[in-house]
Amino acid sequence: MTKILVTGGAGYVGSHACKALAAAGYEPVVFDSLIAGHDWAVNWGPLEVGDLLDRDRIAAVVQEYRPEGVIHFASFAYVGESVTNPGKYWRNNVTGAINLLDELVACGAPPIVFSSSCTVYGMSDADYLSETLPIAPINPYGNTKRAIEIMLSDYEVATGMRHTILRYFNAAGCDAEGEIGEDHDPETHLIPLALAAAAKDRDRLSIFGTDYPTTDGTCIRDYIHVTDLADAHVRAVGQLLEGAKSNVFNLGAGEGYSVRDVVDAVGRAVGADLPVQDADRRAGDPARLVADISHARDVLGWSPEHSSLDNIVTTAWNWYRSRRQIVGA
Ligand code: UD1
Repeated sequence: MTKILVTGGAGYVGSHACKALAAAGYEPVVFDSLIAGHDWAVNWGPLEVGDLLDRDRIAAVVQEYRPEGVIHFASFAYVGESVTNPGKYWRNNVTGAINLLDELVACGAPPIVFSSSCTVYGMSDADYLSETLPIAPINPYGNTKRAIEIMLSDYEVATGMRHTILRYFNAAGCDAEGEIGEDHDPETHLIPLALAAAAKDRDRLSIFGTDYPTTDGTCIRDYIHVTDLADAHVRAVGQLLEGAKSNVFNLGAGEGYSVRDVVDAVGRAVGADLPVQDADRRAGDPARLVADISHARDVLGWSPEHSSLDNIVTTAWNWYRSRRQIVGA
């Protein structure tokens, strides 16, 4: 079986990608520190616990498995924390990536898929963001993603290691079979927080900013189902293994929804209105981020099949409910 090394494979998007890789006939080998990931989310191949900052450990895992392809998810991903503690993000995300790339080069430079983010576009005014726009992140988390994107090009020039950069918009929803789902600590994302408010596990949801230049004054985002993201990774790694050249793709649904649209969808899924309160803008939030996904459609042959807002919220609610019973929230 073709082995794919998956760093961060015990995390939210990584675990869904491992499930999809296994279904497509690959063996996902997970390398994860379990700082943010969960061992219960690793069900489709071996789990090697380790930190990319431990160079000897990643070297040993790469040499043991000699993967034919790699998907690199492992990263810290709290925008707010990256602003207050940039060193933590530069050290973990960028130094970790350097260690990984150097060990891969020492093992034949297998092609790599990299999880990047729409945050690299910063405060763009474009209605639909395309990959050809200049990148200009506005927070340290985004800067680390940009740095790694640049690093991948430099490594390709030097070593021939090919890469695919996937820029996710707002990853959301959970596995339809309920095996895995979103579980961040602390949770900062809109949909799980709205579900918690609807379930009365939180007093209310704060709506961060109601005076944006959008239809209802709240921020517009492009929510993409994690199962669609997982499928894009399988396609990207498959094309690289067949010799595709390096590329970069936006992954979104290509449609924008406001915070109030999400609140309404959560109310429908849960069958209960949720208490909300209008709050100040959150620093660094662009008014609108929506993907132009034509490049992924054309080249990856990918399209979002699971990303209606109602399906995103319903699968997230099913997961939330089942976890709530387990953890007794
Ligand atoms: C951010 C990043 C994204 C990154 C992700 C990682 C930006 C622009 N986006 O997504 O690239 O991959 O974090 O975690 O940097 N909201 C509320 N109330 C809440 C929580 C959120 O109103 O309690 C609003 C936010 O203001 C935003 C929307 O909901 O408009 C989505 O927020 P969130 O789920 O936190 O994701 P992003 O910040 O868009």
